[in-house]
Amino acid sequence: VGEGPTTNRQWLLAARPFGIVKESDFDFRESPVPEVAEGTALVRNLYLAFDPAMRGWMEDRESYMPPVQIGEPMRGAGVGQVIESRCEGFEPGDFVQGMACWQEYSLASPSAGWNKVPDGMPLTLPLHLFGITGLTAYFGLTDIGQPKSGETVVVSGAAGATGSVAGQVARILGCRVIGIAGGAEKCAWVTGEARFDACIDYKSEDVGKRLGELCPDGIDVYFDNVGGETLEAVLDHIAQNARVVLCGGISGYNDEEPKPGPHNLMNLIVQRGRMQGFIVLDYFSRFGEAIAELAGWLGEGQLVAREDVQEGIENAPSTFLRLFAGQNTGKQLLKLADPPIG
Ligand SMILES: NC(=O)c1ccc[n+]([C@@H]2O[C@H](COP(=O)([O-])OP(=O)(O)OC[C@H]3O[C@@H](n4cnc5c(N)ncnc54)[C@H](OP(=O)(O)O)[C@@H]3O)[C@@H](O)[C@H]2O)c1
Repeated sequence: VGEGPTTNRQWLLAARPFGIVKESDFDFRESPVPEVAEGTALVRNLYLAFDPAMRGWMEDRESYMPPVQIGEPMRGAGVGQVIESRCEGFEPGDFVQGMACWQEYSLASPSAGWNKVPDGMPLTLPLHLFGITGLTAYFGLTDIGQPKSGETVVVSGAAGATGSVAGQVARILGCRVIGIAGGAEKCAWVTGEARFDACIDYKSEDVGKRLGELCPDGIDVYFDNVGGETLEAVLDHIAQNARVVLCGGISGYNDEEPKPGPHNLMNLIVQRGRMQGFIVLDYFSRFGEAIAELAGWLGEGQLVAREDVQEGIENAPSTFLRLFAGQNTGKQLLKLADPPIG
């Protein structure tokens, strides 16, 4: 790469996780910066994004994405700046987003799913509000949950990247919104900055009892990020024609054996309820309209998009683990560098 950088610090998948994911499931490696092949651009990664779903990509099973292979750089989204290009459409200095993986330098190309960050957009927003978590919140809530003004919406993982946006969108659409999150500090942020009507601290309160008190007419929409006991508690309090949006089930992602399902699914029959899963990627053709609407609300100050930014490539595994320890409020990011050009 001429006088450019020579060393690429990376984290490779070292082992398939069993139970709770561990730092030792990853290997730190110093590799040469890749040669810039025709049709690619060399990107210096600036921010990496962390998603609970990455735990699933580490396992050897087919899903909506192929598994990461042992010895490959750990897969993850990022934004970076082009420092050398042999690729039409990408110029040195351009900010781009794509599957950066846990490394300082990546080879990018539009055919590998990379695209430019729109001019003037804060660099981290494509990694959350205008990226996977914001769009998951938007489509899961509006398309699967179909909330109507005046309805009661409950959101678990309410202080997280997806849940915080889902609840705020429900509030903007005129719903009464109850969050569920771990710890008093998170609950205070959910009702304060994110302006939910109430928030239940599942670590210190009886969730079922509090749902009964806060939702006397039942829950119309439940946006579920966690599954497990929380899902079961909510199902005991659904209203007639309730919609249960299965977005994620993080409480079980590190289980060694899958737990039995909720014991009270019959409530869906009695209450004529519906429970439906979804994958945000299926809404790809509509991402533009959702980003425009979210951007409007952000600009009007109707919603906040919080970030939790850790620093340094050496901290990639420990930053990922923060998601499962509930240490993040808002989107979990890792800053690797400032823009090297300009
Ligand atoms: N369907 C889709 O297309 C799609 C797309 C993106 C994400 N998702 C799902 O959406 C959910 C949220 O993802 P995110 O990226 O926004 O992460 P996040 O909510 O920002 O971070 C994860 C949060 O989960 C909570 N958590 C961790 N362990 C838990 C446990 N055992 N029980 C209950 N809560 C626990 C923690 O908050 P507390 O401190 O409150 O416990 C933690 O902060 C995940 O389940 C993810 O898989 C689905």
